Amino acid sequence: MRKNDSLKHKSALDFEFPKEIKILHKILDCVEFLKQLPDNSIQLICIDPPYNLKLAEWDIYKDYIGWASKWIDEAYRVLSQNGNMIVFGGIQFRDTKSGDLFDIIQYIRHYTKFKLINTIIWHYKNGISAQRFFANRHEEIIWLAKTENYYFDLDSVRVPYSEKDLKNALKDKRLNPENTRKGKNPTNVWEVGRLNGNSKERVGHPTQKPVELIARLVKSLSYPGAVVLDFFAGSGTVGRVCINEGRHCLMCDSDKKSLEYFDKHLLAMKELGQSTSYKAIENIDDFFV
Ligand SMILES: C[S@@+](CC[C@H](N)C(=O)[O-])C[C@H]1O[C@@H](n2cnc3c(N)ncnc32)[C@H](O)[C@@H]1O
Repeated sequence: MRKNDSLKHKSALDFEFPKEIKILHKILDCVEFLKQLPDNSIQLICIDPPYNLKLAEWDIYKDYIGWASKWIDEAYRVLSQNGNMIVFGGIQFRDTKSGDLFDIIQYIRHYTKFKLINTIIWHYKNGISAQRFFANRHEEIIWLAKTENYYFDLDSVRVPYSEKDLKNALKDKRLNPENTRKGKNPTNVWEVGRLNGNSKERVGHPTQKPVELIARLVKSLSYPGAVVLDFFAGSGTVGRVCINEGRHCLMCDSDKKSLEYFDKHLLAMKELGQSTSYKAIENIDDFFV
């Protein structure tokens, strides 16, 4: 592990892929789980919380922000000084009793010391149609950090220019040619298809997120060998990406089906010829040794 202030200017190239990836996957309430984690121990928290949409039994809360504030405060405590936190959400929910990302942002702005670094628009072309309003084609992702020294590896997620665009960009005096050759900043509007019901990537979880989306976050906001946490793990998409990208991962979900879904992710990885080698850790103390 490096000194806090030096991480700010590092990229994936400064780290080695770990020889063994540690994965801990617990079935537990998120707040109980978070309380067991040491202060400042996590590099990236990547969560996709329930929002009272009544999508399933786990998605019903009477006092949404009263409940969410407990895990938001714990997340702040466990995040490292260079750490990042990602929260998926939407702002399209109609029922005023639902929680949404606006409520979370409001709480974070007024009651925590988190810094809001970016709001990313996840745009997709596939979705349900509508007749009485404009059909929704985006969700939001907020990126929070504990300090201004957050780790950010833009180079790991740059988008290559086409040959023609690269020639033109290299003529543009406002752009740094060295960075231009590495590719474009993907901006904060990302077009990634949602997983349709019949998508090959689906493992059965109703709100499973695409690997491509999570991979961009894990690569840019954590480094090889870092500790990533998802305490609303669902199918374990974050864990899958961590195995691919050489990050250690702590996952927790209150629903025991999470373990079955994760097994299906592992099977899908094998079918794609990807390595599924990791060390399963049972206890939090053993994870941090
Ligand atoms: C929106 S889903 C996450 C889906 C995940 N991103 C994926 O790609 O599969 C939210 C998850 O939070 C879990 N959950 C709900 N309340 C919880 C709680 N209090 N503690 C831990 N997990 C909880 C649900 O079981 C559900 O799997």
